[in-house]
Amino acid sequence: MCGIIGYVGSKKAAPVLLKGLERLEYRGYDSSGIAVADGEKIEVIKSIGKINELVKKASGSNMPCGQIGIGHTRWATHGVPSDINSHPHLSEDGAFAIVHNGIIENYAELKAELISRGVHFASDTDSEVIAQLLQDNYDGDIISTLRAVAKRLVGSYAVGIVTVYDPDALYAIRKDNPLVVGVGKNENFIASDFAAALEHTHNFVQLENGETARLSSHSVTFYDSDGNNIQKTPYRVDWDIESAEKSGYPHFMLKEIYEQPRAITDTVRPRIKGENGDKIVLDKIEFTDVNVNRIERIDIVGCGSAYHAGIVGKSFIEKYCRIRVNCELASEYVYSDPITDNRTLTIIISQSGETADTLAALRLAKKLGSHTIAVVNVVESAIAREADDVLYTHAGPEIAVATTKGYTTQVAALYLIGLKIAKIKHTISDARYLEVLKEIAALPKKIEAVLKNTDAIESYAKQYAKHKCVFFIGRGTDYAASLEGALKLKEISYIHAEAYAAGELKHGTISLIEDGTITLALVTQSALYLKMLSNIKAVQSRGGTVLAIASKLNEKIGEASDGLLVIPDCDDDVSPVITAVVLQLFAYYVAKERGCDIDKPRNLAKSVTVE
Ligand code: AGP
Repeated sequence: MCGIIGYVGSKKAAPVLLKGLERLEYRGYDSSGIAVADGEKIEVIKSIGKINELVKKASGSNMPCGQIGIGHTRWATHGVPSDINSHPHLSEDGAFAIVHNGIIENYAELKAELISRGVHFASDTDSEVIAQLLQDNYDGDIISTLRAVAKRLVGSYAVGIVTVYDPDALYAIRKDNPLVVGVGKNENFIASDFAAALEHTHNFVQLENGETARLSSHSVTFYDSDGNNIQKTPYRVDWDIESAEKSGYPHFMLKEIYEQPRAITDTVRPRIKGENGDKIVLDKIEFTDVNVNRIERIDIVGCGSAYHAGIVGKSFIEKYCRIRVNCELASEYVYSDPITDNRTLTIIISQSGETADTLAALRLAKKLGSHTIAVVNVVESAIAREADDVLYTHAGPEIAVATTKGYTTQVAALYLIGLKIAKIKHTISDARYLEVLKEIAALPKKIEAVLKNTDAIESYAKQYAKHKCVFFIGRGTDYAASLEGALKLKEISYIHAEAYAAGELKHGTISLIEDGTITLALVTQSALYLKMLSNIKAVQSRGGTVLAIASKLNEKIGEASDGLLVIPDCDDDVSPVITAVVLQLFAYYVAKERGCDIDKPRNLAKSVTVE
C-alpha cells in the first residue's frame, strides 16, 4: 500500500521526509518522491525504484531547503511504476503538489472533463486528477477549494497537499484511507501510519472521513466536511517503530487478514458501474458477444493458493457460464502438453506476478494460441506485462509469506469475470445475476463480522494446536475452500493438514481417522447438508473429533459435531471468501500457539521465482 509523510517545522523538510519514507518501506512500493515548498515555489523530486534512488537525487546541493513538504511511497494501481507516475503530482501551474493513497474510481471522467477544458496531464495515474482539480477549483480559500474537490472525488483517498498560496502550511484531507496528524514541538506531521513520524512525536490525531487539516509549524487546525473549525485532542501512541509498521498488529499476516474488507472493496467496487450498480466493467478487458461465444473452454492456472483460488473460481464459472473449466497447477500444466488453442480462454492467477512456474504456463498458453487474462496483485509484474489482458486485485502489498488478502481478492476477481461472461452468454437470469453481484459487493461487510468475533476461532485453535494431523473436508465449493484452509495451516504451523472431498473419505483415507483425529468440516452448501451430516458421523464413528464451520442456515450441524463456528449468512456460491477468513484465523492462532515464525515460515519464500 502507498505511504504518506508530511512535515512542517523549523528543520529542513527533505531529510525528515526521506527518513519518514524509509520507515514506510515495509509497506511495499515501486517508486517514491518528495515535494518541498520554500515560500516561493514547490520543488518536486521523485524516482522509480528504492528510496535510496530518491535520496541520491535529493542529496547534497540538490537537497531542497524549504521547511514544509510531503513525501510518498507508491504501490502502483493505475499507471505503470515510473518516475513520472510516482508522487507527488504537481498541478499544471505548479501551485499545488499532492500525494495520494487510495483509488479515485471516477478519475477517467474527471480527467476527460479537465482535458476538455485544456488541462494537460503529465502522468497516467488516477491521483494526478486531484492536483489538477485543485488548480481548477482554486477560489482564493484553500479549505473551501479542498472541500469542492473532495465533493468531485468517488473512491478512497488520503491526500497531503502543499501549495504556493499558503507558504506556512501543509494540508490534509481523507476518505476511507487512513491518515494521522502527528503533533510535535514547533513541528507537525501527517502520515499514513504512525511509523513514519513516531521518532519525532508520540502524539497523534486521527483525521476522520471528510475532515480537513491545516498544519503550520506551531498549530494544527481541523475542519469538518462543512468547513467548520473543530477541536480534536491528540492521543499518545506508545508503540515502538517495529510494532508501528504492523499498525499495532503482532504480525503482518494478522494485519493483512484484517485488511481484507478494504482489499475486496478496492478490488470489486471500482468494477461495479451503472446507475443501478448492475454493470461489471473489468477495466480494459473487452468481453463481447463474439469473443465470449468463441470460448469453448476455460483453463485456470496458478500455484499454491492462487491455484486454490482457481478451484473455487472453477465451480463458480462452470455453474454460471456453463463452460467447461479446467484448473491446473502451473508446474504440471507446463509439462502436460496441454490441449489448448484460440477457443480456450486461459486465466493466469498470481499475487506476485513473478512466480516462475506460472509465468512459464502463461508463455505456453499464449504460444498455443490461447487468449490469456492475468489476475495479479503487483502492477507491471512480469505476468501482468506478458498476459493479453490483466485484471489487478487491489489488495495492496502483501508482506506475510502466507497469502490471505491476495487469495480472497483473487476469488472475488474470478467471481466478477464469471458473472460478466454469464451475463453476455445469457446463461444466468437477470434476477440471479443481480442477486449474486449484490452478494459479492456485500462480502467486505460479512468479513468484518467474522473479524469482530474471533474468540471462538482462537479457542478452538489453542485446543487443537498440539495435534500432528488435521483434515479439512467439504463438498462442492466447500471442498474447494478446504484446500486453501489446509495449506494455510501447513504453511505457518507446520502441522500436516489434508483437504479431502468429504464424499471421498470413505474410499480409503478414512482409515487414517483414529481417536482424536481433528477434522474441520465446511458446511455452507445447503443442498449438501445431509451428505455432510453423514460424512461427519462417519468420522466421529472412528473416534474423530469434528469442528464444523457452517453458515447460519446450516448451524444445526453443530448438534452432530464436536465444535461449531458459524459464519454470517451468505449465498452458498460466495461462501468460500468468508470461510477462508475463518480458516486463515484458525491457522494463525494455531501457529501462534505453537510459537511459529508466522510472517516468515521456514523453507518458504513470498514469491517463488524459480521453477
Ligand atoms: C500462499 O500462502 C503461498 N505463499 C504460496 O502457495 C503462493 O500462493 C504461491 O507460491 C503462488 O504465489 P503467487 O500467487 O505470487 O504466484
